[in-house]
Parts: sequence; C-alpha cells; structure tokens
Amino acid sequence: MSQDAKKRRVAEAAFDKIRHLLDKNTPIGIGTGSTANCFIDVLAKSKIGILGAVASSKATEDRLRSYGIELLDLNSTGTLCVYIDGADEADSALNLIKGGGAALTREKIIAEASVQFICIADDSKRVDCLGTFPLPVEVIPMARSLVGRAMVKLGGDPEYREGVVTDNGNLILDVHNLFIVDPRGLELAINQIPGVVTCGLFAKRPADILLLAGEHAITELMRDQ
Ligand code: A5P
Repeated sequence: MSQDAKKRRVAEAAFDKIRHLLDKNTPIGIGTGSTANCFIDVLAKSKIGILGAVASSKATEDRLRSYGIELLDLNSTGTLCVYIDGADEADSALNLIKGGGAALTREKIIAEASVQFICIADDSKRVDCLGTFPLPVEVIPMARSLVGRAMVKLGGDPEYREGVVTDNGNLILDVHNLFIVDPRGLELAINQIPGVVTCGLFAKRPADILLLAGEHAITELMRDQ
C-alpha cells in the first residue's frame, strides 16, 4: 500500500473514532500537513455538519475554508475535546517530533488546549528513539545565530531552513544529529534559550493516542497515564 493510501486510511480511522463528538457539534482542533489534510478531506466528504475547527496554520485554514468549514478562534472556544494532527516521528511513549511543515508553535498551543490529542501517521513515522528527523526549532529572527550556537552546545547541527517564514513571522532551524534519550528534558532545555519560540519536541504534552497505518491494519497505541 502506498504512503498516501496509508494516510487516507488512518485519517478515516480517526474520523470514525471521533464521529460521536462531531455528531454533538463539538469544536475540534486540526493540525497541518499531508495526513491532517487527508483528515480534512474525510471530514468534508462525510458532509457531517460540524460547528467548526481551530486550525494550526494558515494552510489548514485555507483548506478548511475551501470546504466551507467554519474557522474558530481558540480564544473563544476554550478547551477543545480533541485535536487531530500528524507527526514527523513518534516513539513508544507517544513523544513526537513535529514541525516539518513549520507549524509547530500553533500545533503545540492547540495540543496543550485539547483534552485529547490523537496523532495520525503512517507506520514509517514510528521510531525507537527520536532524532533521526531533524528537530525543527522556531526562532525569533534576530536570535538565529545565538540559538544556533546554543544548539551546537546541546550536541546538534543546526541548519537554517532557507526561504521559510512561519505563520508567526519567525524562522526555522532544523537541528540534525540529535540522539534524543530524554525528550522532555531536551524540550524544556531548548525552550529556555532566549529567542526560541518553541521546539518541535512534543514530550511535555505528548499525544494521548497514536493511530498508525500499516500495510494491512491500523494500530492504536495509547499513552500510559
Ligand atoms: C507540521 O508542522 C508538522 O508538524 C506535521 O504534522 C508533520 O510534519 C507531519 O506531516 P505529514 O502528515 O505531511 O507527514
């Protein structure tokens, strides 16, 4: 099965899982990327009338708008029941690396604001140790070099993502060669560096459920509480 087919499958599985919430007209959070896009497509095709969604990026806002799905402001919705989003890597504790699409900061905000974070991915994203995927870090422009030097001290090789400006007007450093044995500790350490808006480690607030599409089936992993 192709990776695209797996993404569609896992998006359908997520839709089935939260359909009861959608039936109750509950607002939801929706992330960014090709897997989240599949979920939006499934949602739109279902013709289920939902109250609306909080989007983690302008790209997701555009896609939702193109289907006539109302965009909601997180400041008005309060806590969300559920957030659906993809990931670049996921470990067995459901810690994630996210931000390949540069939307990490808004993604982290929505994840934090949601009771349940359901991560959807194809099985290529499952890893034993996070860090093969370069860790995205969103940085205030004037702090680019400062943060880069700090990332070297933490053992990484930062690379400026040329030509990318985030939805918040900032830059992305992709940090290579981190072997992340303590995702939570590293997340907190990076987020302490002045000029860092946030890093793409989701360990302080990991996913609650990981739906992984394999060749023949969807596997559901739940976080130990
Ligand atoms: C967006 O910034 C990312 O966090 C995405 O969730 C992540 O890159 C997964 O994207 P795909 O679903 O396209 O693999």
